[in-house]
This record gives sequence, structure tokens and C-alpha cells, in this order.
Amino acid sequence: MMDRKKIYDTLFVSSSDDEGLAKCAEAIRNGEVVGFPTETVYGLGADALNENAVRRIFEAKGRPGDNPLIVHIWDKSQIDELVSEVTSAAKALMDAFMPGPITVIMRKSDKVPSAVTAGLDTVGIRMPSHPLCNRFLKLAGCPVAAPSANLSGSPSPTTALHVRNDMDGYVFGIIDGGECQVGLESTVVDATGEVPVILRPGAVTSAMIDEALKTHTEYAGALGKGQVPSSPGMKYRHYAPGCEVVIITLPEDCEAIDPYAEDLTDEQKQKLFEMASPFILKAQEILKGNPAARIGIFAGDEVRTLASMAGDDILSAHLEFYSYGDTSDVEAASHCLFDGLRLLDRQEVDVILAAGFKGDGLEVAYMNRLSKAAGLQGDDVPSRAYEALGEGGNEVPLDYFDDVFTSSVLFVSDDDVNLGAVCEGLFTDLIRRKGPFCSADDVKIGVELYAESAGLYAEEGREPDALTCEAFTKVTGGTVTHHISRHAEVSIYDSNDLVLTISDAQAFEILNAYPDLEGRVFSLSSYMASKGLVMRGEDGRVASISIRDPKGQEADVYLHTVSALKAWLEILFPYIIKDLNAKRFC
Ligand code: TXA
Ligand code: MG
Repeated sequence: MMDRKKIYDTLFVSSSDDEGLAKCAEAIRNGEVVGFPTETVYGLGADALNENAVRRIFEAKGRPGDNPLIVHIWDKSQIDELVSEVTSAAKALMDAFMPGPITVIMRKSDKVPSAVTAGLDTVGIRMPSHPLCNRFLKLAGCPVAAPSANLSGSPSPTTALHVRNDMDGYVFGIIDGGECQVGLESTVVDATGEVPVILRPGAVTSAMIDEALKTHTEYAGALGKGQVPSSPGMKYRHYAPGCEVVIITLPEDCEAIDPYAEDLTDEQKQKLFEMASPFILKAQEILKGNPAARIGIFAGDEVRTLASMAGDDILSAHLEFYSYGDTSDVEAASHCLFDGLRLLDRQEVDVILAAGFKGDGLEVAYMNRLSKAAGLQGDDVPSRAYEALGEGGNEVPLDYFDDVFTSSVLFVSDDDVNLGAVCEGLFTDLIRRKGPFCSADDVKIGVELYAESAGLYAEEGREPDALTCEAFTKVTGGTVTHHISRHAEVSIYDSNDLVLTISDAQAFEILNAYPDLEGRVFSLSSYMASKGLVMRGEDGRVASISIRDPKGQEADVYLHTVSALKAWLEILFPYIIKDLNAKRFC
């Protein structure tokens, strides 16, 4: 990572904001960098003929400028000043696929600075088909050099929110054009020679190119199926989430099937099983090796439904699903791939099981991107992009969510003085650092999480010990001096979605008095056990969480107590928010 400096109060422009669009266009002319939509992925653009402006793109992306950039145009007449030669193959490709998800590499003219082409004597030209993009380019009035608008090392952005997460404060403006329709970057074709060569597969497939060139040129059929030489300057980690990615290849005759349909034939049942069981078996195998593993699944509805039908609660507690629609739909999978990788990565899963497709159409581009994500393992796995960004601080625009609900956890101790204050304070700190949150089932619904505490035998209104406050501040940097104790009552249990007690006896006492609360009240230890989380101590024995009130002890006992609770709650956090019907949003 290069040093990035937050220097902008970034302007966010909605699709109906003409004034904002004009400001961004003017900024481009003044040498600034703007994030903009295309039908493939979002781009990070600057005036292609202004060398200094182009350098700023690399500063915002956090990587050195030795990868060639694509030049975006809104009208084919612009090509003349950018290239020195248009081969007949290039002309045929542009006639057939522009505007659209293709980049055609041609010999560059002297006008294109080497900062754009990384010193190559060729330049990639792309004319997007996204209407808002084309309006913006036209307003800007100059050719716009742009790579994908992701932070170096994270997947290409397919929504304005992705761009915002990676670029807020680092660019002049970001234009929101909605979700990118294709979701994968353009097909890059080198058309400088007689035989066009696909350098990067995309939505314009080799079959489509063969077909088009047959009608225009003598190069028909020149491209071998699946022939994909690597593009120069592709050494940077693209498409990479911060965890391991395992590809689960779908059966060839995969088709959409409704698992709930009453009239399923035996053949359909068999197909459903063949589609979903490899994911479930692989997840079970991973959990066997590591009972604390958290597993993301990027697949379709059939897989999700069958996994929940399997009725294995412990397995389910460890799974995070991202469904792109029908499991067999490669267009939907491509459209959602980068969003899925980002969202699952954000759930801090250890591994993602992602659907793989066989085929030589769009499947080639999809598998190319997915393989790149899966190819990075062990030491090669980059640190989470979000760690580079710093946790939290991703503000979601107020109008993003269709709706927001609240969900909460209650920590119960005996007196709600020291342990209560610490649990509530630690969890609140986690919420602040790991937010924002959305509904586990629907990213368009936001969730406000909170934590509170109460004591079974608490006197009302007591403050935590001074040593608790000091220890808390030392460990978290935050404060719990404001905490005052509360007596636990059934109305408090009722107003929380999950109740966690410090000791087994406390949970037992609550459930004894209120058996209806079964399933919502756990001790920290029984909660872990319910998730199949078996922790062993150094002596190999199963560890249960036992945390004593440090009252009356030395300062270091207080410190140790806060640190231990912090460690437990960090482990439990993803499980708790899942039970609160929430997940981390990005
Ligand atoms: O869909 C897209 O192409 C998106 C949108 C924003 O237009 N852009 C994009 O840019 O994906 P970027 O920089 O992330 O990827 C550009 C790819 C790189 O693999 C680069 O090596 C290749 O295109 N490329 C660009 N100019 C080239 C050239 N002159 N010769 C060979 N490869 C080139
Ligand atoms: Mg890129």
C-alpha cells in the first residue's frame, strides 16, 4: 500500500443530480479524480491527456502506477486523436461491440501520455453503454483514463457504496449509477495484430467475437476456445477477499428447481441433491477440522434452502450465505460475484465456498475472476481490505435502507456493577467498530444493534469501581464511568432479543422463573456450546467461560477480567449478531 491521504470532502452524486454531475465533469477538466458507473464495474477516472491527473488515480487507489489504464470515450470520433492505427480487426470489433463491455487495444498516438499506458506503445479504448456514464463523459469533454474504482487488493466495485467504502475522502466525487449490470470487467482484446487476442475474458465472449469477425474480416475463428493469454500489468492483487476461496463446481446439467415445489420428480430431487450437497459436505468437513470455522457460501437459492432443510443448527450457526438467485444462473452469479466476495469477507469468514461454472460463454470470465480470488492462499492472502481502511466509519447514506429495525442483547450478572458495565461497554464498542449492520436476509434493511445490562440481585444506581473504569479504558480506549446498575426484570428480558448471563447458575435461575424464554437465554458457556464451539485449555480440557467479579482485588485482576471478557465477546460476536438477525454491511 502506498500512503493515501484523505483530502477530500467527497461529493456524492445521485443519478438525478444534474448539478452534481456537472460539477464532477468540471472537476475532471480541472485534473481531479471521480468515481463513475459503467455497465461492467465502477471506474476511477481522470483526464487521460493530463499526466498529473492520471497520477492522482494511482494515489487514490493506493498502488504504484505501473499498470496500463483504459481510456473511456463517449463517441467513436474521439478515437482518431488517441490511436495511430486502426486495424481491420479493431474496426470490426468496435463496429460489433461498441458501446459495450469491451476494451480494444490499439497502437497509441503521441497525445496519450505514458502515465496512462505504463510505457506501452498501445492503448486500450472503451466506450461504455451505461447512459449516465456516457452523459458524464460527454460533459467532461475529454477522454477519461480509468481503472476499476476499488482500493488496491479488494474486489472491483459494482455499486456506488463499494466505491464509497474504498474511496470516500480520496477522490473529488462519486457518481451513483446503481448496480453495474454485468458485474465483471470488460473483455480486453488486443487488436494490434492480424489475429485479435483476448487478454482478459468478459461479457463479450470469444464465440461472440468469432461470430462478429466472420462477417467482417478474414480473421474469422482466429481465437481458440478458452485462449486467454495474460494481460501485462496484471500482477496486482485483484478480486481478492481477505480469506481463502474454494471453488465448488456445479454439475453440468444444473437448472433452476424450486426445492419447495410439491410435484418434484425423482430426477429433480437428484439434481437438487447434486447441486447442494457438495457445499454442505465441504462445510461439514471444514468444521470437523476447526469447530470455530466460519464459512461463507456464494451460491444460489437452492443451495441455501437445502442447507437450511438439513436442519443442522450447529452447521447453520457457522454458515454465512450470499445467494445470487438461481444456482444455475451464471449471469446472476457474475452480476453478484464482487458484491458477494465483499459482503462475505465483511462477515469475517475464514473461507468462502463459491459456485463454479463449466462452459465457454460468460462462464470463462466468471471463472477467471473467481480463480484469481481462489488462487490466493496461505501467506498470499492479503490482509483484509477493510483492515487497511480501518474498522468502522463506513457511513451509509441515510436513504440507502428501505427500513431499519433495532435488535439487542442483554448481559446479566449478579449485581450489574463491574461485569455488567464491562460486558455492555465491550459489546457496544464492538458494535461501533464493526458496524454498520443490515438484516441477515436483506441488505436493503438496516439494523441498529445495541447492548444493555442488568443484575439479578442488583441495587439500582451503583457505579462501577474506579479500577473497572481504569481497566476498561486501558483495554479499549473507551469509558464505562457513565454506567449505572439496574435490577433485572421480566420486562427487560422481554425487550431484548438475546439474554447472555455470566454464569450457568444465572441462566438457570432466569429460565426456571420464565420457561417461555427458553432459546433466548444462555450463559456465555452454554451459548458457546450451542454453537459447537469447543475451546480447549492448555491442559487439553474443555474450557468453559468462568469469569469472576474482580471486586476487592488488585488492579491487574481487573485488567485481566476485562481482557478475558473482550477475547470471549470477540469470538462470540459473529454468532451473536447472527442470532440478532443481523450481519455486517458493506
Ligand atoms: O470494465 C472495465 O474494463 C473497467 C471499467 C471501469 O471500464 N476497467 C477496468 O480497468 O477493469 P483495470 O485498470 O482494473 O483493468 C484494465 C486491464 C488491466 O488488466 C490492464 O493490464 C489491461 O486492461 N490493459 C490496459 N491497457 C492495456 C494495454 N495497452 N495493453 C494490454 N493490456 C492493457
Ligand atoms: Mg481492476
